[in-house]
Amino acid sequence: MRLADAVPKGRRNTEDLVRAVALTTEFHGRTVLDGIDLAIRRGEVFVVMGPSGCGKTTLLRHLCGLLPPTLGSVSVAGHDLYSAAPELLHNLRLRTGLSFQGGALLGSLSVLENVALPLRENTDLPESVILATARMKLDMVGLLHAAELLPSSLSGGMKKRAAIARAIALDPEIVYFDEPSAGLDPITAAEVDNVITKLNKVFGITMVVVTHDLPSAHAIADRIVVLLDGKVAALGERDRVWHDPNPRLRDFIERRLPAEDSRGMDVITHLEV
Ligand SMILES: Nc1ncnc2c1ncn2[C@@H]1O[C@H](COP(=O)(O)OP(=O)(O)OP(=O)(O)O)[C@@H](O)[C@H]1O
Ligand SMILES: [Mg+2]
Repeated sequence: MRLADAVPKGRRNTEDLVRAVALTTEFHGRTVLDGIDLAIRRGEVFVVMGPSGCGKTTLLRHLCGLLPPTLGSVSVAGHDLYSAAPELLHNLRLRTGLSFQGGALLGSLSVLENVALPLRENTDLPESVILATARMKLDMVGLLHAAELLPSSLSGGMKKRAAIARAIALDPEIVYFDEPSAGLDPITAAEVDNVITKLNKVFGITMVVVTHDLPSAHAIADRIVVLLDGKVAALGERDRVWHDPNPRLRDFIERRLPAEDSRGMDVITHLEV
């Protein structure tokens, strides 16, 4: 049995932790996101899908407080993120973990020191507590044995897990992942999925995961949003979205080229088969 199936759906919380209202993004006069409304529920794994370039990373950056939208708002636990006082914004950010593409580990520091870094930078905890906490986080992702290694000696999957340990160093309520299984073989990708699922089910951390990887999305998601042409094409429980009859959804989920393809090369470029 997968960990994802271990907790009955009925026991999951339905309280909204993050709400996006009418999110709109323009870059140099071009609309990328066009009036996105969604809510992320406390305790769920929320997966963001859509073709390459549709604005998934941009959405994530809006949701986690890194990029104000051109229009619209984001609130976290009822606080408007982009009008919050600096101190509140700082506190909200501390409750948020990030594991983004390119968020590499520092090559000159051991795995343990990489995980300890956010604790050193944001707390005045004693050294013994910092090290014990960093070790615990590594243990949570199954990497305690690699604590003293440099990142260059880790496999791709171990690097991802170390980055996850660093993202949860400060006990965040919510963690945002951008393509956590990019570049991994299917077995290693499944190991990373299992870590994400375990942290969600066992420790209750809300997870927001952008992924291109359909098996991963299916394995970890409680709910899914699919973005197409800057808008929400589908949003809801995993199985409902997976079987949505909308032909454009079917094209995306089944990775087919539409019979009458008005989008031409755009679609071909975005298919990763
Ligand atoms: N800071 C920026 N300035 C200008 N254009 C940007 C900026 N960030 C993103 N874009 C553009 O916005 C669009 C959406 O980008 P985004 O990175 O959010 O897509 P994505 O869905 O994450 O793509 P991928 O699946 O390839 O990671 C792209 O056309 C991109 O070039
Ligand atoms: Mg992206």
